[in-house]
Amino acid sequence: MNLDTAHDDVRHYYGEVLASSADLKTGACCPLEAMPAELRAMLGDLHPEVLERFYGCGSPLPPALDGMTVLDLGCGSGRDVYLLSRLVGEHGRVVGIDMTPAQLEVARRHQAWHAERYGHARSNVEFVDGQIEDLAACGIEDASVDVVVSNCVLNLAPDKQRVFAEIFRVLKPGGELYFSDVFADRRIPAALQADPVLRGECLSGALYTEDFRRLMAQVGCLDVRSVSQAPVPLLDPAIETVIGMVNFRSITMRAFKLPLEDRCEDYGQVATYRGTVPGAPHAFVLDDHHRFETGRPLRVCGNTFDMLGRSRYAAHFSLHGDTSVHYGLFDCAPGPAAVAATPAAACC
Ligand SMILES: C[S@@+](CC[C@H](N)C(=O)[O-])C[C@H]1O[C@@H](n2cnc3c(N)ncnc32)[C@H](O)[C@@H]1O
Repeated sequence: MNLDTAHDDVRHYYGEVLASSADLKTGACCPLEAMPAELRAMLGDLHPEVLERFYGCGSPLPPALDGMTVLDLGCGSGRDVYLLSRLVGEHGRVVGIDMTPAQLEVARRHQAWHAERYGHARSNVEFVDGQIEDLAACGIEDASVDVVVSNCVLNLAPDKQRVFAEIFRVLKPGGELYFSDVFADRRIPAALQADPVLRGECLSGALYTEDFRRLMAQVGCLDVRSVSQAPVPLLDPAIETVIGMVNFRSITMRAFKLPLEDRCEDYGQVATYRGTVPGAPHAFVLDDHHRFETGRPLRVCGNTFDMLGRSRYAAHFSLHGDTSVHYGLFDCAPGPAAVAATPAAACC
């Protein structure tokens, strides 16, 4: 698919076809009830126009962001940028990148309004007009970002490998990619991928989950974790007729810029959550099969040990062990605590 044509189609869809989330044809954008309560409470402090043009499919806002530099790829009208502005605090920084002028215009118009609302002496956010395939052209330097987030955007990118390569270039060592997107349970036929409405609705550009895993491996990330997921209802009968053979899910994924192994290996390591992540006094959820209850030691594989110990989460865990002795493959099946508390939805 030609990069420029694909970009023009997306710009047209988000700049001219859609005026608000009410214009979307499918249920890719999930109900607000599924958003974590502490984040939902913060929505009341966002400008209504920013909320009106929200087209995300999840809530890609990880914890422990105070003081961090966060990059939001395809920030649109800025809903997540402004939530992040509050979460990183006045000494943190948020950069939103988008290529649709109409979306950026709304985001920028309310910049001073949000800074004042949050009591920030000056705005800690910046919006850049650019393409997520070329973050260097957007002024984002190597290893300069703590956390990259994105909400329902990567499916729209015609060259996904370039986007993932750029993400891992700009992340600091131990930095985190945390994003929500629409995924498919199979590869989507090329003819449907070229359809501007199906693509604009975040369906026909959706990655097949196994191809996503392969793409991540190609850019050096061998272990990606799914945090939560929910089915995407197609709703529109015409859309159901042409693409209803595909099952779509909105999934929130997390990955770290770390030299991990391609399988979970057992070195007899143990992690205990200290209960210190703000807003999470009782448990820390790493993914859909790791829920760390406060004070309760959990045996973990080498990859999980590194995700916790070599990222910004390190201060919140007591970690025991090393890789000097190997006990074979680690059984990473969910423990009872994870099963009981698996989040049902990955939602806005
Ligand atoms: C589905 S909307 C989501 C917007 C925002 N993340 C939200 O949650 O409201 C997709 C956004 O990604 C932007 N976008 C898509 N592909 C892009 C690309 N290659 N480079 C920059 N922005 C892109 C579009 O302009 C649009 O604003």
